Amino acid sequence: METVLITGAARRLGSQITKSLAADGCAVWIHYMTHREEAFALRDNIISDGGQAECVQCDLTNTDQIDHMLKVITDSNMGNLTTLINNASVFLRKDLQKTGTDEWDQIMNTNLKAVWYLSNQFAAIFPTSRKIITIGDANATSCMVQHATYALSKHALKLLTEQMALAYAPKISVNLLSPGLVMKGDHEPEAIWNQRQKRALTNNHNIIIQVINGVRYLMSDSGMTGAELIIDNGAHLFRKNENLG
Ligand SMILES: NC(=O)c1ccc[n+]([C@@H]2O[C@H](COP(=O)([O-])OP(=O)(O)OC[C@H]3O[C@@H](n4cnc5c(N)ncnc54)[C@H](OP(=O)(O)O)[C@@H]3O)[C@@H](O)[C@H]2O)c1
Repeated sequence: METVLITGAARRLGSQITKSLAADGCAVWIHYMTHREEAFALRDNIISDGGQAECVQCDLTNTDQIDHMLKVITDSNMGNLTTLINNASVFLRKDLQKTGTDEWDQIMNTNLKAVWYLSNQFAAIFPTSRKIITIGDANATSCMVQHATYALSKHALKLLTEQMALAYAPKISVNLLSPGLVMKGDHEPEAIWNQRQKRALTNNHNIIIQVINGVRYLMSDSGMTGAELIIDNGAHLFRKNENLG
């Protein structure tokens, strides 16, 4: 049986991935930082549907807390982890000139350093660890000037994925799943969001289902490692010569 840790799983995309994997028969660890109530409600729903789920709290910018989270997991009776899904992230709409050093650290430490540290520990601790899937962003390779630090952190995940794939081979496959637009952030202007949503080459726009299917694919014996799976309905072709902001 697969036992999966999904970071940032209490709400939004993380909770949708978690629900689907639990319905597939995986035992799931629901990691959260602040949204405790949502995390426990998700756990209760999964258990009442006959699944296996547990919650664990951690600020991923703190490596001591990551170590403690992994101890909670190893001490539990949920079994060894087989898959890690690095989904948690900080999204900030700010250009480089206005970004403060605290904001830089928060983004880099959550979106990049924590992915490296948690993945390293996952690879070292669990004899059964087989897959690492990190959620990137298909927009990160374009010039997101109004989300500069976020884009930098997500872009760097591509190289980190390749380095981890080399480092953990052949035991663990490491891949990056980069979605296009999934869910509007609380601070994203509606008009910009609607405009961006028009960029698509396919008629099938249920991106949450597509991302979940991408996760399922990367959890299967896909033969992929060190790779990026872009799921954005072709939107990257619209962006090629465009300053997205
Ligand atoms: N939304 C989109 O349109 C979109 C597009 C492309 C890619 N993505 C990527 O898809 C993933 C999910 O997107 P989303 O919009 O659902 O994410 P989100 O709502 O921005 O963040 C997910 C979770 O990350 C957790 N988190 C943030 N900082 C943390 C920290 N220091 N320690 C621990 N947890 C922390 C939060 O948990 P708590 O709530 O419990 O505090 C939050 O709920 C992200 O990696 C994102 O970059 C999203």
